[in-house]
Amino acid sequence: MFEVDYIPSEKPLFNLRLCTNKRLNKDALPSCAGRGSRELADKIEKILLEQSIPAKLIRSPCMNNCKIGPNLKVQRGELYSGVTEENLDEIIEAIKAQVSRQKAEMDSLE
Ligand code: FES
Repeated sequence: MFEVDYIPSEKPLFNLRLCTNKRLNKDALPSCAGRGSRELADKIEKILLEQSIPAKLIRSPCMNNCKIGPNLKVQRGELYSGVTEENLDEIIEAIKAQVSRQKAEMDSLE
């Protein structure tokens, strides 16, 4: 029998992809994980659960925007670059707005 940490409150309406690539070589190119994206991923997952935001976070490989990362792509939405704890609240608000728009679209189809 499995023991789970959480049960998502709603089925996700869309995915968020956050680059958590860590570059192990010694070239000059930075990586999102080197700028804290793995810690951001944990924080975003916690916020999604706490606020019952029906979106799923996927830890993704490199998105080829390494110089301006960490990068967060909202499915059918924006690509946010330079995501930090400082601008995360603003991004979460934008994600909530997308949830509202998508729910309204789904309601109009019924
Ligand atoms: S390492 Fe994140 S976009 Fe390349």
